[in-house]
Amino acid sequence: MKTVVTGSIAFDYLMSFPGKFTEHFLPEHMNRVSLSFLVDSMDKRRGGCGPNIAYTLALLGERPLLMATAGEDFAEYRQWLEAAGIDTSLVRQVPGKFCASFFCSTDQDNNQIASFYTGAMAHAGELSFRTVHDCGLAIISPNDPGAMVQYADECRTMGIRYIFDPSQQCARMSGSELRAGVSGAAIVIVNDYELELLRQKTELSEHDILAKAEALIVTRGEHGSVVVTREMRAAVAAVPPDRLVDPTGVGDAYRGGLMKGIALGLPYDVAARLGSVAATYALEHLGGQSHAYTWQEFKHRYEQHFGPLTAPADDPHAGWTP
Ligand SMILES: Nc1ncnc2c1ncn2[C@@H]1O[C@H](COP(=O)(O)OP(=O)(O)OP(=O)(O)O)[C@@H](O)[C@H]1O
Ligand SMILES: [Mg+2]
Repeated sequence: MKTVVTGSIAFDYLMSFPGKFTEHFLPEHMNRVSLSFLVDSMDKRRGGCGPNIAYTLALLGERPLLMATAGEDFAEYRQWLEAAGIDTSLVRQVPGKFCASFFCSTDQDNNQIASFYTGAMAHAGELSFRTVHDCGLAIISPNDPGAMVQYADECRTMGIRYIFDPSQQCARMSGSELRAGVSGAAIVIVNDYELELLRQKTELSEHDILAKAEALIVTRGEHGSVVVTREMRAAVAAVPPDRLVDPTGVGDAYRGGLMKGIALGLPYDVAARLGSVAATYALEHLGGQSHAYTWQEFKHRYEQHFGPLTAPADDPHAGWTP
């Protein structure tokens, strides 16, 4: 059975400005702003929720199938993802478009000015789960909002178990779009801030969400996460990082770990612990795809924090050689 990851494919262009933006905004000239900041460093990084989640799944021994749209600038990124163990055969390159791109300048006070160009991501709705055979588990992570609703609809119709992960698109999606994603999901996953947006926009309480989805997972940064189902509520601890380098992709790595646990047949709260461990590795490295580990290293780290990692007795993967 395949694990399918959908979500944006993007490049992040990160620049640093050796001054303070606020000193350049002149209150008396706010009716006509024309500013150019001379930045002294620029970094281009591979990003996007889809590749980040798939990257963690591949590190954990899965061969995820990435289904997403990319631009003409994707060739080298594709090679990188294939080398990491990700199946990119369902990534469609859109002629005449760039990959979605995030341009962000940060100043000395950590103030940021950013733009996000959707690029090829706007074509995500041209892809469909109908072209995927034998999908056991899917994740619908931030992407073109229309495509996210369409994928959820296809998963419901085709009986595919899916995780609805609206994350940063909670800000953009309407209440009815969010409701459509939640209805029939195996898991709805958001951070605590996004849960508030989801509640307000959909007018669904936690109880209502659990009437439409099997489980709700809320991540809370360094405070860990909470897994709630109709039967139980479990707090899952965060794993303290040895060093805190860069939070980019931490939420995506968590989702990759969670999906690995589900693929192994673990209960959701145990699968979420795998998410905690995976997230911490991402936190310790720059960008969302610069960390690496073996299964043995990962398992050792898991067991240091959570005790023995044991599969349910009836799990065909018991014995733990993923
Ligand atoms: N400072 C931290 N220390 C340890 N673990 C962390 C820390 N921050 C995040 N995590 C882990 O990552 C998980 C997801 O983090 P968080 O709730 O910040 O997601 P997010 O806001 O969606 O992140 P992102 O910025 O990637 O979208 C947490 O549940 C936790 O396991
Ligand atoms: Mg997030």
